[in-house]
Amino acid sequence: MLVRSRTLLAAALVAATAALALPAAAPAASSCAPGTPGCQNSALKGSGAKASSPAAGNPNAAGSRVKTTQVKVTQAQTSFWDDFSQFALTWMPLIFMGLITLLIGMTLRFMPRTKPQQIKPDTSQSIRWSDVAGADEAKAELREVVEFLRDPKRFKKLGAKVPKGILLHGPPGTGKTLLAKAVANESRAKFFAQSAASFVEMFAGLGAARIRRLFRVARKAAPAIIFIDELDAVGATRGSDISGEKDQTLNQLLVELDGFGNSDDLVVIAASNLLEKLDPALLRPGRFDRQILVAPPDLKGREEILRVHTLNKPVRGVDFEMVARQTSGLTGADLANICNEAAIFAGRRHRDHIIEDDFDAALERVVAGMQTRKVINDHEKRVIAYHEAGHALCAELLESQEKTHRISIIPRGKALGYTLHLPQEDRYLKTKEEMIDWMVVGLGGRVAESIVFGAITTGAANDLEKVYSVSRTMVTDYGMGTTISSRRLPVDDYSVSEASRRIVDEEQQELTDLAFRRAQQLIGANRPLLDAFAELLLSNEVLERGDIEEIVQAHHNGTLEVPAAAANGNGADSSDGDAKPRPEPGPARIAASERLGPDAPGQAQSRQ
Ligand SMILES: Nc1ncnc2c1ncn2[C@@H]1O[C@H](COP(=O)(O)OP(=O)(O)OP(=O)(O)O)[C@@H](O)[C@H]1O
Ligand SMILES: [Mg+2]
Repeated sequence: MLVRSRTLLAAALVAATAALALPAAAPAASSCAPGTPGCQNSALKGSGAKASSPAAGNPNAAGSRVKTTQVKVTQAQTSFWDDFSQFALTWMPLIFMGLITLLIGMTLRFMPRTKPQQIKPDTSQSIRWSDVAGADEAKAELREVVEFLRDPKRFKKLGAKVPKGILLHGPPGTGKTLLAKAVANESRAKFFAQSAASFVEMFAGLGAARIRRLFRVARKAAPAIIFIDELDAVGATRGSDISGEKDQTLNQLLVELDGFGNSDDLVVIAASNLLEKLDPALLRPGRFDRQILVAPPDLKGREEILRVHTLNKPVRGVDFEMVARQTSGLTGADLANICNEAAIFAGRRHRDHIIEDDFDAALERVVAGMQTRKVINDHEKRVIAYHEAGHALCAELLESQEKTHRISIIPRGKALGYTLHLPQEDRYLKTKEEMIDWMVVGLGGRVAESIVFGAITTGAANDLEKVYSVSRTMVTDYGMGTTISSRRLPVDDYSVSEASRRIVDEEQQELTDLAFRRAQQLIGANRPLLDAFAELLLSNEVLERGDIEEIVQAHHNGTLEVPAAAANGNGADSSDGDAKPRPEPGPARIAASERLGPDAPGQAQSRQ
C-alpha cells in the first residue's frame, strides 16, 4: 500500500508540474499573434511588405487621400532545430524532475524493509534446553530469566527484579544464538529477534527508526524478549563512525534500553563476539548489566555436544569420550561439523551406520584440513618424518607434556605433516617448567633435522613463531624470567625503558636457548627412538597411539630394534641407495618443507 501510494504521489507530482508549465509553453509552441514584437519582425522579414498607418507615416497626411494598405502577416518559417530547442527548453527540466521523482520512488520501493522477526515456540525447528549442551553457566543464567517471565508473581512478591539486559559473549560458534533460540522456545513470552546489522543503513536516521520500531512492537506484546544478534555491528565505541549513522543508532538503542525501565516484562538479550569493542555505556548497570561468557566447551561439554548431534544418526561403537579428548579447544559449531562430516564419510563408503573410522577421518579433515596431492620427493619426506619424530620423541619423554595421539606425514591443508597431541584433561594453569617443556617439544622438530641431516630447513618456521610468542609472554606477562619475576613488563608500552627492553630480550633468549639445549640432549640421548619413529613413519605414513606406545615401551625395555637404514648416523639420509653427498636444500626444497599452519592441531592442543 505504502509503495503504491508513493508511486501515485510521484505520478501526481509530475502531472501537476506539467499542468503548471502548459500555459507558458502553449503560446511558444503555437504561431504568434500579429502585433507582438517578434511577430512583427518576422512578418516584415518574411514578406517585405510596407506597413504604414495614416497618422504615423506622414505628419501632413491630414486631408490627403487616405491610402489603405493591406498588411499581410505570414507565418514565420522556423527550422526543426529551433522547434526542438524550444521544446527541449520548456520540457526537459520537467522530464528531468519527473525522472528524479520516479527514481526516489523506486529507491524507496526497493530498499530492504526489515521487520522484527517474531519467533513462535513449538515450530518444527524449535530448540529446547536439551539441544544446548555444555554451556551450563549460560544456561543457568538464562533459565532464571525464563522462570521469571513464566511466573513473574513468584519473584515480584519478594521484591525481585528481572535483569533487564543480558549480553552473551564469546568466540564464534560457541552457541550464543542457539541459547537465545532455546530461550525463545522455553519462555512463553513473545520473542522478537533482529540482527544488529539490519539496523545499519546508508540513510541517516533509519537505523534509529528501526530500533524505535523494534522496541515499540515488543512493548505492545509484553511480556516479551528482544534478541539482538551480533550487537557489535552497532554497539562499537562511539566516535569512530564518520557518517554518524551508527552513533545515532547506538544512541537510540541506549535510550530505549533506559526507556523500558518502567516496564518489568521486557528483557533484552544480545550476543556479541567482541565485548572489548562495545561502547562502555552499553555495559553499565541498568543496560546490559549481566554479561555471560559462552566459552568453548570442556571435555564433558564436548562429549555432550557430540551426543546431541548424533542423536538421530545411526552410530555404532564410537567412543565419544575419546573423540572429545581429541577435540580440545574446538567449539560446538566445530563438533557439529565433525558429526556431519563423519556421516558424509560413512555415506561415501556405502555404510548404513557411522563407525569410529568415520569420526577419525572427519576429525582429521576438520583439524588438519583436506588431504592435498602435493608430490614430495624422498629426501623431503625423510626430513618431514624426522621433524615430526623429533616432536613426538620429546612429547613422549617429557612427563609434563601431552602425549602424542597421532603422527602423520600425509600433507593436509598447509601442513606437510603434523603431530596431534592428546591432553588427558583440561588444564587452566601451567608452571614455568611445563612451559619450558612445551618449548622443548616445539623445538624438537628443528633439533631432529639438524642432528640427522646436519642442515636446517624452513619447515620449522611455524614452530619457531610459537616458541617466540610463548617465551615472550613468559617474560613480559607471567614474570617467569630469571631477573624479572616481580612485575609485568609490557614492552609495547612507551614508558618501558630501553634497559628493560634489553633485559626482556636477554631473558627470552635464555629461555629459548635452555629449551633448545634440552631438546638436543633428549634427542641425542635417544637417537634409536627417533630413528624408529621416523622409519616406521616413512613406511606407514601415519603412526597411531598404539604404535607409538609400543615403540616407546620397547625403547624403555632396551629391546628396540634400530632400523637398518638409520643404523649408521646420517645413514638415514643415504638410505636412498646413492652414496653421493646430498646437495644443500635449494629453493624448491625450502618451499616444499613448509610445515604446519597456525591452525594446526598441535598448536590447538598445546595452547594455554
Ligand atoms: N552448546 C552447544 N550445544 C549444541 N550445539 C551447539 C552448541 N554450540 C554450538 N552448537 C552448534 O553450532 C551451531 C552454531 O552455533 P551458534 O550459531 O549458536 O554460534 P554463535 O555462538 O552464535 O556464533 P557466532 O558468534 O559466530 O554468531 C549451532 O547451530 C549448533 O549446531
Ligand atoms: Mg550467533
